[in-house]
Amino acid sequence: MARKAKNSFQAPKGTSDILPKDQKYWEKVRDVTKKASLHYGFGRIDTPLFENADLFEASVGVSTDILEKQMYVFRTRGKDLVALRPEGTAGVARAYVEDGMMNLPQPVKLYYLGPMFRHERPQAGRFRQFNQVGFEVLGDIDPIYDAQVISLFVRVCGDLGLKNLNVEINSIGCKVCRPVYRKQLLKYYRSRIKGACADCKKRIKVNPLRLLDCKNEKCQPIKVNAPNLIDNLCKECHDHFRSVLEFLDELEIPYSLNSHLVRGLDYYTKTVFEVFLEDEHLEKHSETTHKRSKLAIGGGGRFDNLVKIIGGKDTPAIGAALGIERVIDIMKLQNVRVPDIVKAQVFLVQIGDLGRKKSLKLFNEFSKSGIFVSEAFGRNSISSQLRIADKMGAKISLIIGQKEAIDGDIILRDMETGSQEVIPIENIIKTVKERLKK
Ligand code: HAM
Repeated sequence: MARKAKNSFQAPKGTSDILPKDQKYWEKVRDVTKKASLHYGFGRIDTPLFENADLFEASVGVSTDILEKQMYVFRTRGKDLVALRPEGTAGVARAYVEDGMMNLPQPVKLYYLGPMFRHERPQAGRFRQFNQVGFEVLGDIDPIYDAQVISLFVRVCGDLGLKNLNVEINSIGCKVCRPVYRKQLLKYYRSRIKGACADCKKRIKVNPLRLLDCKNEKCQPIKVNAPNLIDNLCKECHDHFRSVLEFLDELEIPYSLNSHLVRGLDYYTKTVFEVFLEDEHLEKHSETTHKRSKLAIGGGGRFDNLVKIIGGKDTPAIGAALGIERVIDIMKLQNVRVPDIVKAQVFLVQIGDLGRKKSLKLFNEFSKSGIFVSEAFGRNSISSQLRIADKMGAKISLIIGQKEAIDGDIILRDMETGSQEVIPIENIIKTVKERLKK
């Protein structure tokens, strides 16, 4: 049945269009990511935008916000239960197993760039469709790779011109030490949970580690005295974490230890980290959400159990992802200068039917020769076309009317001086090339 037409449509809540004026920032993010990934030996991977829903259940975890509230899950016509990917790590781990990447020399280093989907309450910096750049290193437990991923992350942010960033880092232990710590934490919280917020009352039942992550004022006094994760790591996790920090010191990457950093995905083990704009710089940007809530630009950590959980061999791994919208937001706030995408320096002005025909052909010839030209084929008046050329900042306008078309000529107008000269059409590309060089 045909639907009644609406007067106007809007993009779905929490989504937005990326307009031509903003594309230069996106190009820059893509360029910088590509270059840095190449230098660090990461190969590009693209996984589907949707996966079987149970992949995320197994990896992200059932009692996480993402699984409980934020996944776009639907049944296909063939009755498969699929989900739009809320993040990229699960798909990459699935591909690692399915595509036999464990048979390649290890570790396998992969990067991706693309949209993710989370049904969150939309607010500035938090969208329902957003984009991530992600890096994953699969197949090595050495802490040197934790440091390398953080270093790559910092390098990308630096090459994008971002300043005043801080890496917060923690270790959340492994299968051996985390359950022991979890017990201690539960014991501590049980006698105090009455005074905690409603979310924490739920967290204590489903995901106690997230108690440490609570931002509610009410819970801060309880949190302050909670047993410390770092003090309760097993020897292996403790030594691993110490090495990560030593490597970061060696790389001169500043960081702050944050014993309350636990992250919102279940697959993490050992190192976890997030990157923020430093507090004092949040205040500066008082017009933005970055002041109201501290949003991470990116984050990541180890996921040593994930590949096995989803059916592969025991494969330690480390990775991280960066939120592109948030990065671009900060690039704008910090007035990072990004060159405009190449603009046309030549404008084709046409008058009359014959002039239009000739200029359409000429447009293609210029384009083939590598010179960007612009036009307003829909306009007839010479003055309105010249006004557009002027607004665009064209250096040269080429005017072709009935007479010029018949004589095989074209008028070259220098837009700065206003001087005009007649040039044979067969020489025009060569002449324009020479003039642009000057
Ligand atoms: P995540 O912390 O959930 O980690 O997301 C990484 C980044 O994506 C965040 O720091 C943020 O910049 C951006 N982001 C997340 N949700 C939104 C949203 N609703 N709107 C805008 N930006 C958002 C992961 O996704 C892990 N897969 C990272 C990872 C890779 N861990 C290991 N490997």
